Amino acid sequence: AAAEKGGYDYFMLKEIAEQPAAVADTLLGHFQDGRIVLDEQRISDQDLRDIDKVFIVACGSAYHSGMVAKYAIEHWTRLPCEVEIASEFRYRDPVLDRSTLVVAISQSGETADTLEAVRHAKSQKARVLAVCNTNGSQIPREADAVLYTHAGPEIGVASTKAYLAQITANYLVGLALAQARGTKYPDEVAAEFRQLEKMPEAIQKVVDSLDPVREIARELADSKSVLFLGRHVGYPTALEGALKLKELAYMHAEGFPAGELKHGPIALIEDGLPVFIVMPPVEGRGVLHSKLVSNIQEIRARGARTIVIAEEGDEVVRPLSDYFIPIPASTTLLQPLLATIPYQAFAAEVAAARGYDVDKPRNLAKSVTVE
Ligand code: AGP
Repeated sequence: AAAEKGGYDYFMLKEIAEQPAAVADTLLGHFQDGRIVLDEQRISDQDLRDIDKVFIVACGSAYHSGMVAKYAIEHWTRLPCEVEIASEFRYRDPVLDRSTLVVAISQSGETADTLEAVRHAKSQKARVLAVCNTNGSQIPREADAVLYTHAGPEIGVASTKAYLAQITANYLVGLALAQARGTKYPDEVAAEFRQLEKMPEAIQKVVDSLDPVREIARELADSKSVLFLGRHVGYPTALEGALKLKELAYMHAEGFPAGELKHGPIALIEDGLPVFIVMPPVEGRGVLHSKLVSNIQEIRARGARTIVIAEEGDEVVRPLSDYFIPIPASTTLLQPLLATIPYQAFAAEVAAARGYDVDKPRNLAKSVTVE
């Protein structure tokens, strides 16, 4: 078993390290003759062009990857895009027809809630596109189009490399739609794809610099509660950071959109409370960046300890950070591929420090095949 873990103490650590390859392999072969291509397409190009609304359905981390995708899909395609927890979508009578695209995201391809959402969507004539990590599993079999993530088998119950691969594949879905609709010129699609191709190298840099994060984790391992804040794509990243900590370290954690703080959650802030924040990239500096700076000032004034993930050159926020975790520069949309990684390492290390089984957290199964 030690050999299987490739020298790491847990599969999860090995899988964190495999993320540059997971993203690179997911991109491989999907840009041919100047076009984004899916793996399977049983829906005509014309039908794809006629899509007028997108629903993303998924559970857990896959749902968070869908939340990230919404920002890109709406921006690139100008299609309205809703993201919904599969078990909620299924039972609330959503408005669907043949020009609705339902994107079902599932690592295992066997998650019952997501599968039932797919079946409901199909019964209402919606088109279904599956983003899946498991060849031949049920969800891609029932879908009209498929894009496989190539993360390889993920053993750790907490998703890491499959999550980054999902974000990557979701972006390809967004580009494929933009290409079909003509909301992006071919050279713009190509440029976006090239940006994606640069990510494995940047991801590698983050993976190689996680030791300080582990140290912070050991220092904060006795915390009762941790908050995660972000805006724009930093918001789903906050939710993913909190989910990791809940599932692995059994620690109370919540993610919020930073702008919501003043509408309630700020009442939770007290002396010493650890608060994680993802800063938007310098590229996006301006409104979002300065709004987050004020959010940080508000929580610091109330005694919280700030752990800030930001671009390495972000000198504005460094003095406001009790702990500063630098990541390489990227575009705003691609930043979750980097900013999520410290959260994975943090949760794994807190769990290990508390003596828990990092690969097999209590009460959880890798794939949830009951509704
Ligand atoms: C992730 O860390 C979880 N183990 C869980 O939320 C998971 O993402 C969810 O159950 C969905 O699984 P799927 O991708 O196989 O459908």
